[in-house]
Amino acid sequence: AAIEKGNYRHFMQKEIFEQPTVVAQTLRSYVRQLERTVALPQIDFDITSINRVTIVACGTSFYAGMVAKYWFEMFARVPVDIDVASEFRYRDPVLEPGGLALFISQSGETADTLAALRHCKEAGQTIAVVVNVPTSSMAREADLLLPTHAGPEIGVASTKAFTCQLAVLAALAAHFAVKKGRLSKDEERAIVDHLLEAPACLNAALDHDDDIAQMAHLIAPARDVLYLGRGPDYPLAMEGALKLKEISYIHAEGYASGEMKHGPIALIDDHVPVVVLAPSGPLFEKTVSNMQEVRARGGKIVLISDAEGIAEAGEGCMATIEMPKVHPLIAPLVYAVPVQLLAYHVACAKGTDVDQPRNLAKSVTVE
Ligand code: G6P
Repeated sequence: AAIEKGNYRHFMQKEIFEQPTVVAQTLRSYVRQLERTVALPQIDFDITSINRVTIVACGTSFYAGMVAKYWFEMFARVPVDIDVASEFRYRDPVLEPGGLALFISQSGETADTLAALRHCKEAGQTIAVVVNVPTSSMAREADLLLPTHAGPEIGVASTKAFTCQLAVLAALAAHFAVKKGRLSKDEERAIVDHLLEAPACLNAALDHDDDIAQMAHLIAPARDVLYLGRGPDYPLAMEGALKLKEISYIHAEGYASGEMKHGPIALIDDHVPVVVLAPSGPLFEKTVSNMQEVRARGGKIVLISDAEGIAEAGEGCMATIEMPKVHPLIAPLVYAVPVQLLAYHVACAKGTDVDQPRNLAKSVTVE
């Protein structure tokens, strides 16, 4: 059956709003709700013998991989190498026995990622894939298939596939950690509980759609926009910038908050909006101090944080977007929503073709 937009103006908008449902649907395959444990599909290799993870992907899927790197290292203490597929293949990467190569792709067909997969297979790596199309080439060639259950994604700019990828990757990192004896039963339960909170928190984030629509006119005239984040929210800053570039054609850069003073700060004036992703938590104070550096130079800030963070640092910002207070583990999933909605509403304000942006393809099957 043809996929319809229903009451939505665009597929992208519909897909953004589907996230609570499809993330819940995806999580159902990766956690046991009653036992509160992670549960992966049958794995027929010894996961404890994996001594290194190599993550390869493109575009939005690459940013999901960057978040996963934080989780694999934090929970499972396994070293992670990550690269975009087009670079990975040609740099003669060191692939030693005992390595797991993990490919992330909505379509499962992206030419560069598929070529990197085949390269890793030849080099004797165990191949795992996180894909949204279970019949795709990548799915067929994998030793371990980890499907996302986002349903068909029509909008060219990826949204719901991304948050579902994050859900799977968090479960995979936790599973690794359990197998390596690095998580107690209680810690595993806590992780599962946080993951299961994600759908409700995504809904709470979506409740701010109107606020975001109303502030989009502040961003629409900009020529450049900076996005800042720290830790696992740093890849989200890059994803936010990518979304804005893709559909509104405004130049945007995602930067690690602490790295801004080594360059991009030179760009700051009152024509460059700076979107700061700062959930309250262990990294909040540091991010806020980077935000003050922007403000001191006349920068116009859009602060995305929870009520607590906004109370502490919201004064003097051009705008604030309130998120529910969430555990740091699920912040990358929840904070995906405001950056998607911001890009979406800015694009609508500019009147671009949201679902079919110029020069872009949903699935890139050429190298
Ligand atoms: C294209 C799409 C992006 C997507 C990227 C990777 O560039 O426009 O939205 O993130 O490909 O696609 P994949 O299917 O491998 O996740």
